[in-house]
Amino acid sequence: MPQAQVQWVLTLGWERALRQHFLFRRTPSLPGMQRLEGRPICTRPAMPDLSPGITLSSASVRLGGRLVLDGLSLVLTEGRIGILGRNGSGKTTLLRLLAGLIAPDSGQVRLDGFDPHSDRKAALGAIGILFQNPDHQILFPTVEEELAFGLAQQGLAQPQALARAGAVLAAEGRAHWAKAPVSTLSQGQRHYLCLLAVLLMHPRTILLDEPLAGLDLPTQTRLARRFAALPQRLITITHDPATLATADRVLWLEAGRIAADGPPDRVLPAFIAEMARIGEQDADADLTG
Ligand SMILES: Nc1ncnc2c1ncn2[C@@H]1O[C@H](COP(=O)(O)OP(=O)(O)O)[C@@H](O)[C@H]1O
Ligand SMILES: [Mg+2]
Repeated sequence: MPQAQVQWVLTLGWERALRQHFLFRRTPSLPGMQRLEGRPICTRPAMPDLSPGITLSSASVRLGGRLVLDGLSLVLTEGRIGILGRNGSGKTTLLRLLAGLIAPDSGQVRLDGFDPHSDRKAALGAIGILFQNPDHQILFPTVEEELAFGLAQQGLAQPQALARAGAVLAAEGRAHWAKAPVSTLSQGQRHYLCLLAVLLMHPRTILLDEPLAGLDLPTQTRLARRFAALPQRLITITHDPATLATADRVLWLEAGRIAADGPPDRVLPAFIAEMARIGEQDADADLTG
């Protein structure tokens, strides 16, 4: 793929540029990103309390008879980890595996030293998930009930859980949300509610599945700034390479295997070039079909 095209994809419009401006601490070193240099609005805090991490040992997952994750062996210890792949590559399945929502069909997963699938109580305190679609996450009719739920699962009595929910809303300048029906919140506000629910549980690691997809720009900006300031380990799953330019480590997932694993300035250009190659192939097929 010509350098000019790489540059074009990387600087594909102001939306991504703006997102990077808020998301990234380091100056991206990718070709085409130089224009984004400048003082970042927020810096990543020191992360003294990072957990030991997640280890996969030859972990495989089959769904509907298909091998969706194929013998993955990984040690995930960095503060900002990106998992990149196109649709259907197995990203969400990997997220579910890391969180212990599913067990591997073979191999092993260890989250901070324990099995997150068999020890659900420990997993609740160790890892939080922000799903791509907040409506797949939200269970309760009102904001305060939704926020209190996780705390109640962690063993807090309902009145205390509701009080903690109220306190966090007040601290966020959103005390008036407490009794509001969740259905009155916008999609961005529901995303934000899910993030608050996760943060209330104080997980050491947070998994983000396409965290900015489908949100309008102001909401992306606010959420991105919020993510960047979190002290927790963040594992971000996305098909969008621009989201990961300052990750500590990027894993490129392709058909359930790791196609590349390394710093963003090595993995992202290779991914972009390959996606463009595949896109060109598809375009050719469409014209001749
Ligand atoms: N419950 C399921 N049963 C059968 N196949 C599934 C199921 N869930 C996902 N898959 C398949 O597994 C592959 C990976 O899916 P997924 O992890 O959602 O990928 P991604 O998040 O990268 O788009 C896809 O081909 C998808 O169709
Ligand atoms: Mg997915």
